[in-house]
Amino acid sequence: MDNFTFCSPTLFVFGRDQENNAGKYVKQFGGTKVLLHYGGSSAEKSGLLGRVENSLKREGISWVKLGGVQPNPKSPLIYEGIELCKKEGVDFILAVGGGSVIDSAKAIGLGVVYEGDIWELYSKQAAPAASLPVGTVLTIAAAGSEGSNGSVVSFQREDGVYKRDCGGEFMRPKFSILNPALTQTLPPYQTACGIVDIMCHVHERYFTNTEHVEITDQLCEGVLRTLIKEGPKVMKDPNDYEARANIMWAGTMAHNDICGVGREQDWASHNLEHELSGLYNCAHGAGLAVIMPAWMDYVMKHDIKRFARYAVNVWGCEKEENPANTARAGIAALRKFWKSLGMPLNFQQLGAREEDIPLLLNYLQIEGRTEGHFVKLGTEDCRAIYQLAADYPG
Ligand code: NZQ
Ligand code: ZN
Repeated sequence: MDNFTFCSPTLFVFGRDQENNAGKYVKQFGGTKVLLHYGGSSAEKSGLLGRVENSLKREGISWVKLGGVQPNPKSPLIYEGIELCKKEGVDFILAVGGGSVIDSAKAIGLGVVYEGDIWELYSKQAAPAASLPVGTVLTIAAAGSEGSNGSVVSFQREDGVYKRDCGGEFMRPKFSILNPALTQTLPPYQTACGIVDIMCHVHERYFTNTEHVEITDQLCEGVLRTLIKEGPKVMKDPNDYEARANIMWAGTMAHNDICGVGREQDWASHNLEHELSGLYNCAHGAGLAVIMPAWMDYVMKHDIKRFARYAVNVWGCEKEENPANTARAGIAALRKFWKSLGMPLNFQQLGAREEDIPLLLNYLQIEGRTEGHFVKLGTEDCRAIYQLAADYPG
């Protein structure tokens, strides 16, 4: 196990009706003037936004609203939010929504404090150092941004769309309200995309070269087995509160890094996927369903034993005499599960085009560097993985 420091400072407030306490927690963390940030329509339609506004009113906290965050949050609204916060003297950002809203809120928080253009932070020309405090009311179990130290934004630049991440420990939310009942209004496709994303956050950590990490290995396997058990329940009955609750907490556990400390992590599949959701505006989870198994097929030979362990401990596959067969059975079980959730498994099903592979590689800016850690991938490796994802029969 590697040396590590770990601090997950977010206050998690879990359970039914907890959104009614949002104002109380804003006050507890020093907010006096709030930017209430939200997405397209779901939070307004369900009445959630009104309940959160009432909670602010009860605490005597004033707020300004900025809605309209789109999935794969876009930079123009973020720049608008930064200006609005400066003009209104906002000192706390409350995100009501999913990963896109939370990431947009985190980006606005960075931009209010940073003197330059936040593109410099997301393109790694400068390191982020400070932000306005952010709190969240989560409405979808997926990205894990409610507990994570990162934010992912689609920057609309003159020469195209660059989906890039930015991270810093200070970017973890001050508090996150997790009411599983709020996720009951999700369309099945979004629920499934969320389950895939959560599983991939675990995979990115599980496939490691670090040895003697039994505790995190077993945490990872437990989170994955939970999703395999609870996922089909919510697909069958969207109102199954207990299954929603287990998935929601799994989403936070999968990405606040409790499963990833002390071990090298990979993240190649995520970075390859971000180019797909950047270019086609597809759901991040759907893009991962296409990319991650292709990545697995490609890198499996690097550590057959680890893939065989995954197959047996996560999917309950039989241990075969040839561990490569066991490993392959695990990847097949993963694909079968994601297919059963209605996920795409190849480019065509996702709405991606094989002829765009050179463009994807261009956006990835892979020339002269490598992607991932389990196996360090160069340009031709990344091309081969996109090609496998394009060719998979589905
Ligand atoms: O905009 P509204 O109307 O709210 O609709 C949203 C959106 O269309 C809808 N939705 C959310 N909660 C709902 C609901 N519809 C009905 N009922 C509800 N309760 O779901 C759609 C997707 O929302 P979005 O926020 O985009 O989903 P998700 O949480 O999956 O976030 C995806 C974004 O997070 C990034 C992804 O790249 C992507 O941009 N990620 C962020 C990470 C982080 N910050 O740590 C890590 C992840 O790996 C990921 O990259
Ligand atoms: Zn993800």
